[in-house]
Amino acid sequence: MRISRQSIEELREAVDIVEVASEFTALRRQGARFVGLCPYPDHQEKTPSFSVSPDKGFYYCFGCSRGGDAIKLVEELKSLPFAEAVAHLAERYNIELRFEGATEPSRDRANRRRAIHKALAAAAVYYHKVLLKMPSQETERARRYLAGRGISSSTIEEFRLGFAPSSGGFVRAAARLGLGREVLEAAGLLGRGGRERFAGRITFPISDRRGRIVGFGARVLGEGGPKYLNSPETEVFDKRNLLYGFPQVMEAMRRERSALVVEGYTDVLMLHQAGIKNAVATLGTAITPSHLRLLSGYADEIYMLFDPDAAGEKAVERAVAAASELKLGLKVLRLPEDPADWLRGHAGEEFVRLLPGAEPALHYVFRRKAERARSADTVGRARALEEMKGLVARIEDPVFRHEALRLASEALGVAPHALFAAGAGRAERQPASAGGLRDPYEEAGRDVLATMLARPDLAADLLREGVAVPGLGAPLRLVPEDFATDRQGRLFGLLQRRPGVALDRLVVDEELRPFVDLLASLSEAGERLQPSAASARELWLRLGILSRQRKKRQTDDISRKETLQAEIQLLREAQRSIASREA
Ligand code: UTP
Ligand code: MN
Repeated sequence: MRISRQSIEELREAVDIVEVASEFTALRRQGARFVGLCPYPDHQEKTPSFSVSPDKGFYYCFGCSRGGDAIKLVEELKSLPFAEAVAHLAERYNIELRFEGATEPSRDRANRRRAIHKALAAAAVYYHKVLLKMPSQETERARRYLAGRGISSSTIEEFRLGFAPSSGGFVRAAARLGLGREVLEAAGLLGRGGRERFAGRITFPISDRRGRIVGFGARVLGEGGPKYLNSPETEVFDKRNLLYGFPQVMEAMRRERSALVVEGYTDVLMLHQAGIKNAVATLGTAITPSHLRLLSGYADEIYMLFDPDAAGEKAVERAVAAASELKLGLKVLRLPEDPADWLRGHAGEEFVRLLPGAEPALHYVFRRKAERARSADTVGRARALEEMKGLVARIEDPVFRHEALRLASEALGVAPHALFAAGAGRAERQPASAGGLRDPYEEAGRDVLATMLARPDLAADLLREGVAVPGLGAPLRLVPEDFATDRQGRLFGLLQRRPGVALDRLVVDEELRPFVDLLASLSEAGERLQPSAASARELWLRLGILSRQRKKRQTDDISRKETLQAEIQLLREAQRSIASREA
């Protein structure tokens, strides 16, 4: 069940790491590389330190020192085990994975996902055809309903709306395509008692960002049951990451650098029809940071058209925080009714004229807090004061800042200056030093390893022959125990057994896979070092010295201390003679 090494090589070859990373953060070109805000959720930064090298296939964050290749990125940001991250990318880049060993659960899984996608696509086509063509009372009624809501036939076609007959029918149609009940079940198309889940409803296919249908929203005709029924969570349907209409409006979002997030499927459709082609809808959930991350790849400005009371204040607050990290302008726009309904009586241009009146979401959150603080008890007000201090610090607009202070002092009964008290605002995260290291010993080890990766030819010589040190019995050779950390030492041990092997072969080496993050950061360091034969020897000596110094500190044996000290002297002299020859 192990994925073959050739497949991983093939995959690394095919994958565009810039494209993969762009799913998680907006990148822009900077010379030969791409930079953006670090997508790791626990590394929240305001200036970009995340860097992607398409030629090497690596990413590296100078802020949090994490790095790796596309597989690692998917593993970490999608929380997938290695094999699944590989399968995910393989599917995306159309790589047929080969396996070592007989039974192949992950190939089975890939096949099942493919079958699920096929079933959902087939269902969308089937329901769409029914809506367009099937002569029956209920389909007639569905068509009338949509027309009555003002949804045009071109919108119906573009968004592939459909109708699922209450008598079913898709199960049989699917069987003819070789799609059994088991697949339909896994695709979320069946409900209780094995009936078609969406029977009797108008269907709204929901696609992922790649345009594959992954589920449905479905509305009742008339009354009875929940108004909307969505696909259950399946292997391919996770509503917290999906946005209705995404593939259809992606291009417009990119062009306009702005997006609208609404609550209803019909809102997306009516806005689209009114010429506002950059709206998406959440699937019955509040907007999540992961939605914003997705949108941030396309837009700089996000307008939320939520019924503000229903949106969930905590969710809006989280969204505000996520948006500020992503450098997204997040605004709240309010209409007296659902956009779909409002647009029945107003033109698209009127809607567009409302956009400049949208309120920054931060202001909205602040006002809501102030309102609630008015009626809170002492403890609640103390907490509100702390929270509002933090928020005030983030308000950039001087006019609203003034207003915010007035609101807060009124609501809390404190003087405005109390909101500026020491400690106001969250402390900015300390940026890690470039490369993330401070310990010179650890740095020397990193540089030795970086040199080995940047210049496998030089490293092979040094591994074979060591560094000649006049006065020392034998040439200096490094061993894993010479390194400051166990991890560096283990990597050295592995590299030692692969002299002269280039980085692109190392990263697909099974034994080295666990070190792919380190390999990425080392390749980054290697680029800075530009090692030469002399600098490589110098580094070898430096690490030899530092390791002997540690040993000397750790031993109580006086004569051992002396021996080590003598060796250190010799290594220092050799180091100096390299330096003087270089000069
Ligand atoms: P609304 O009830 O506002 O939907 O719910 P809507 O689009 O305005 O409905 P109509 O067709 O105009 O009457 C907003 C969203 O909440 C989710 C759906 O995603 C819907 O689009 N929802 C709503 C559900 O998931 N289930 C429900 O029963 C109701
Ligand atoms: Mn509505």
